Amino acid sequence: MKRFTFFGGKGGTGKTSCAASCSLSMAARGVRTLVVSTDPAHSLSDAFNTPIGNRMVLLERNLWGLEIDAEAEAKKYTDSIMEKMLHLVSATIVDEIRRQIEIAYMSPGSEEAAVFDKFIELMESAGKDYDAIVFDTAPTGHTLRLLTLPGILGVWIEHLIEKRQKARKLMEVAARYDRELAEQLKEDPVIEALSARRDKFELARKILTDSETTVFHFVLNPEKLSILETDRAVGMLGKYGIPVGGMVVNKVIPKGAGPFLDKKRLSQEKYLCEIRERFASGPVVELPMLEDDVQGMEQLRIISGLMGAVC
Ligand SMILES: Nc1ncnc2c1ncn2[C@@H]1O[C@H](COP(=O)(O)OP(=O)(O)OP(=O)(O)O)[C@@H](O)[C@H]1O
Ligand SMILES: [Mg+2]
Repeated sequence: MKRFTFFGGKGGTGKTSCAASCSLSMAARGVRTLVVSTDPAHSLSDAFNTPIGNRMVLLERNLWGLEIDAEAEAKKYTDSIMEKMLHLVSATIVDEIRRQIEIAYMSPGSEEAAVFDKFIELMESAGKDYDAIVFDTAPTGHTLRLLTLPGILGVWIEHLIEKRQKARKLMEVAARYDRELAEQLKEDPVIEALSARRDKFELARKILTDSETTVFHFVLNPEKLSILETDRAVGMLGKYGIPVGGMVVNKVIPKGAGPFLDKKRLSQEKYLCEIRERFASGPVVELPMLEDDVQGMEQLRIISGLMGAVC
């Protein structure tokens, strides 16, 4: 078992069902587990059939759940930075600081960045309050963006730091005649905040690319588009050095399900062969299509008993 297990894949394939089932299975084995949704359209609550939300809730012995609220996290983050900064700086540079913070946190992607901050905070706390985290992620594109943020934002923050350093040089010139300003310039809260952020991103990159601690499983269905999207995503994760684990082929129609479904099953078999060939480097686990939606503990336990190699 890894400390961080991700379930990702195309929309609707069964990521949430698998993440919830896997977390339940870990908890049953005595592992203190947190299951977290990073998908803005949360459905962990539906899977567990109990309200979850932006605060950690106990779901079972050894099992806690959390649905990260991107908007709330972005606002919390911006507010806390604003407050810290505005306390520390003089009126002369308040507007400049406010502008820089706005550029940094109000820009497109800021919610993802805030989710990422929460994500890092959780990863840092693993090993203390709980032993493992299972991530229920958003459909592929969104998640790939989230996971590759450390690389992209690292460069961008570096650029902000450079700009800030240039601005400081100008302020230092002004401070020659202003003792109060000179005193305040000894520390630069903006550079400190940006550097701290850069360091966090670096830490996240390290964790995400460490196969000792992290694994990313794909959930797919035995159908063409699902395979193609998974294939592309596997390539992308490989490029960023994020360790890919196994393939969970969900919604496989059981044998003898009736004439209509038997036909569908034949087409699924073709795709199952293709999946086994294409993704031969890790385990491939098949999960049957159940009669009902995967909702509530009873259904989740059925799935969790079948996840074997990926949980
Ligand atoms: N093996 C299964 N048998 C029957 N229903 C299933 C199975 N797996 C998932 N489902 C149902 O399919 C729907 C989608 O599943 P789920 O929410 O787990 O997918 P998802 O990949 O997380 O979707 P999204 O991309 O929207 O987050 C849900 O209604 C779920 O209950
Ligand atoms: Mg989901």
